[in-house]
Amino acid sequence: MNIVSKIDAWQAIRKACAGKTIGFVPTMGHLHAGHLSLCERSRRENEITVVSIFVNPTQFNQASDFDLYPRTLEQDTAILASQQVDYLLLPDAESLYPDHYQIQLTETEMSRELEGEYRPGHFNGMLTVVLKLLNLVQPARAYFGEKDYQQLLLVKKMAAALFLPVDIVPCETIRAEDGLALSSRNSRLNTEQRQKAAHFPQLLQSHQPVEHIAEQLKALGFKVDYIVEKWQRRLGAVWLDDVRLIDNISIHK
Ligand code: PAJ
Repeated sequence: MNIVSKIDAWQAIRKACAGKTIGFVPTMGHLHAGHLSLCERSRRENEITVVSIFVNPTQFNQASDFDLYPRTLEQDTAILASQQVDYLLLPDAESLYPDHYQIQLTETEMSRELEGEYRPGHFNGMLTVVLKLLNLVQPARAYFGEKDYQQLLLVKKMAAALFLPVDIVPCETIRAEDGLALSSRNSRLNTEQRQKAAHFPQLLQSHQPVEHIAEQLKALGFKVDYIVEKWQRRLGAVWLDDVRLIDNISIHK
């Protein structure tokens, strides 16, 4: 696996890859089986797989969340190398934002509801960095998890609106045995919180009205941002103390 941290070095490599199909998996690191399922799919469908790890400052609406975001680069590098990923991109913030954060992409509808309502600015930061990365990597396909369903819809919307020559491929959510969706932030849960967290997907999957689910979560000690049905999914966001969890399931009949 080639590790590339300089943007001009990557651009030279990209030129040399002309004519080959590239699959791209953007991440923020602290990799788990969810991320790896995207890499695996990319490996199956493309000649070259590129993964990026970049903890993007512009999509964190709370400085503490950015500071506490788990960074485990050595471990991540070893995992990716064993997964036969071809290139790992590790850009730094100064190089990825030569504009000093003055150019930002804005979506004015979907980005303002649900996650966008509780995390103002999050999706604009996310879209901006994804666009930059797609422009640098120029993949045939880019892989996104359904775990972050609203993110997936927004990336698809951006790709269509800006005529990006990329296929955005949705990948199903990978869960722990007790149903909790894998997430880099799960490592911030202590043993007791981790046990309690399993109630969230279990209740989300129960055949009850969303109001009942929210009530039961509150009774268990969760703080509930929202539980709603939309886009043929049931989506939720909750807090266990200072750790925020999101999840969604298909309710397609
Ligand atoms: P990150 O949270 O690291 O997630 C990277 C990709 O992995 C996203 O597409 C996410 O939906 C997917 N993913 C995370 N957990 C998953 C799970 N349990 N099952 C399946 N896929 C899962 O999402 C981001 O980073 C960032 O917003 C990013 C797109 C990299 C832009 O900064």
